[in-house]
Amino acid sequence: MIYPHIIAHRCGGALTPENTLAGLRLAKRLGCRGVEFDAMLAADGVPVLIHDETLERTTSGRGRVADASSAELARLDAGGRHHPAFAVEPVPTLDEALRLCAALGLWANVEIKPAAGQEAETGRVVARHAAAAQGKLMLSSFSSAALCAAVREAAQLPRALLVEAIPLDWRQRMAEAGALALHSSARALTVEVMAEVREAGFPLACYTVNRRDDAERLFAMGVSAVFTDRPDLWLSSEM
Ligand code: G3P
Ligand code: MG
Repeated sequence: MIYPHIIAHRCGGALTPENTLAGLRLAKRLGCRGVEFDAMLAADGVPVLIHDETLERTTSGRGRVADASSAELARLDAGGRHHPAFAVEPVPTLDEALRLCAALGLWANVEIKPAAGQEAETGRVVARHAAAAQGKLMLSSFSSAALCAAVREAAQLPRALLVEAIPLDWRQRMAEAGALALHSSARALTVEVMAEVREAGFPLACYTVNRRDDAERLFAMGVSAVFTDRPDLWLSSEM
């Protein structure tokens, strides 16, 4: 599987509000080939881009994402907390984000980010929307239940198992989810585990790497790609 080397984290990294269409546009302008974002279900079952289960940190709303309809979420300001210049940015739907990625030619890692108790439903719905999109993408999730539901809905979509530290049973968990790749925290990665993953032939992408020297150390170990909040640190020819 061919990964973009440098993947903008939460759409455009730290330079724009996370999980917004403005982030996707900036990632493209910086020369990124790939982006990552988080998809969760609104109260009406529509998948939207947001990281937290609650609205307060990133939007003008209050309460749980799972209690707000997609129409209510679209009226919120998801950019002003980052900077007033972004105050018109809504919470995008997954469909809007995937359409924009396809139009911009961006590869997308759709991270299935279920609210507690909605793992299988979120995996199923996100996979259905992703399968209907035109662009190049892969699914990932910390939730094995979400990934397994995604397999049942759209087995043809490539999937990555997403973990913090790579667990001892990583092979079994990847096999259960039919995963082709591993995504792990850069912090917990050891040379020994990296060697095991390489030997097994699986690509490994690491989050969240915000310094070039750290990324270069990881690439030298055999890491295929890094998720970064600072895609501006690279030239487009390096991505
Ligand atoms: O998918 C990689 C990374 O986004 C996982 O962490 O918390 O930023 O979604 P988080
Ligand atoms: Mg994420």
